[in-house]
Amino acid sequence: RRLRGVLALEDFEALARKHLPRPILDYVAGAAETNFSLKDNRAAFADYGFVTRVLSDVSKRSQATELFGKTYATSFGIAPMGLSALVAYQGDIALARASAQRNIPMIVSGSALTRLEDVREVAPDAWFQAYLPGDPVKIAALVQRVANAGYETLVLTVDTATRANRENNIRAGFATPLRPSLRLAWDGVIRPRWTIGTFLRTLVKHGVPHFENSFSTRGAPIISRNVERDFSMRDHLNWSHLREIRRQWKGNLVVKGIMGTEDAKVARAEGAQGIIVSNHGGRQLDGTVSPLRVLERVASVAGDMTVMMDGGIRRGTDVLKARALGARFVFVGRPFLCAAAIAGEVGVRHAIDTLSNEITRNMALIGINSLDEMSRDFLVPVRQQQV
Ligand code: FNR
Repeated sequence: RRLRGVLALEDFEALARKHLPRPILDYVAGAAETNFSLKDNRAAFADYGFVTRVLSDVSKRSQATELFGKTYATSFGIAPMGLSALVAYQGDIALARASAQRNIPMIVSGSALTRLEDVREVAPDAWFQAYLPGDPVKIAALVQRVANAGYETLVLTVDTATRANRENNIRAGFATPLRPSLRLAWDGVIRPRWTIGTFLRTLVKHGVPHFENSFSTRGAPIISRNVERDFSMRDHLNWSHLREIRRQWKGNLVVKGIMGTEDAKVARAEGAQGIIVSNHGGRQLDGTVSPLRVLERVASVAGDMTVMMDGGIRRGTDVLKARALGARFVFVGRPFLCAAAIAGEVGVRHAIDTLSNEITRNMALIGINSLDEMSRDFLVPVRQQQV
């Protein structure tokens, strides 16, 4: 019932706006500084249009996509998102269950408030995302813990050398460590469904949420000042830290946050099996272009590395465009978290099905049976009017 009128991925965010207190909604929907990158992530998709093929018998359509030796139901998965359990009741578990049921990968966040072991239990195909710890002892502990939990794919997010300038969070009254304020309290009063159904329910059943998977501040509650320290060591990280992890991690290694060809080449030389071309949903350096704009050139130097991307994917046609420009797989963030906030696991399943149904329809209309058929030949650049 809550999902009535939700016909497309963007409807989830609009509905979540009514459901979540503003500080929480802004944390999810917002980005850094002027939101240039956030907007460009959407705008870039409008810079390409399709050329269709007709009468090509599209009755055997399948979205099945092979990735790291597994066959997933389609070419998209769920991007890692921290603090999900503060946005939706047991948010990470809701996302994980829905992803497992639909046979798509979910990436568990290193800033999650749910233990990576618990998520993996309900979603055996989930991947784990970590922020690189700089300290060799912590690197060993990271690799050991993630491997012990049974994860096969480790994603290292590398675009967070320092804390981003999330002015909109400050303006909306959201920060970690979380500080109680009149503002937050008032927003809680006018959004009782979140306050009771997510916040109080979490407190009563699970206690104060902790950062469970961060290798710098493991176990710190969200109200602890230790959370700040998580960023204090990140600016000295370099490729040698990645090399150290590569030496110890036997599974698939994916680097998330690559934008340029030089970095893609280094990632490949250092032994990464995959990269996610990403500007962190516009949440790090404001002004970074949309990953879609650099996808083709990055893919051209990737060799045998698997190229994936995220940022601004909201339509089946966006998935097709990304595939045409060289991505084997894409990830979607905000809409899935908004779906979890509105209707938990059911909401996330609905979001997955919505995008997947669009893709099947789009495949028929563009004239393909497999997403592997997507190529540059189906795209034409569209000159956008400057406004
Ligand atoms: C993120 N993102 C993110 N990335 C990451 O590597 N680790 C993390 O913990 C988080 N946390 C996070 C929280 C929230 C609320 C959002 C919205 C995003 C970035 C995320 O993985 C992804 O790169 C973008 O969200 C993709 O863009 P769209 O699909 O949200 O436009």
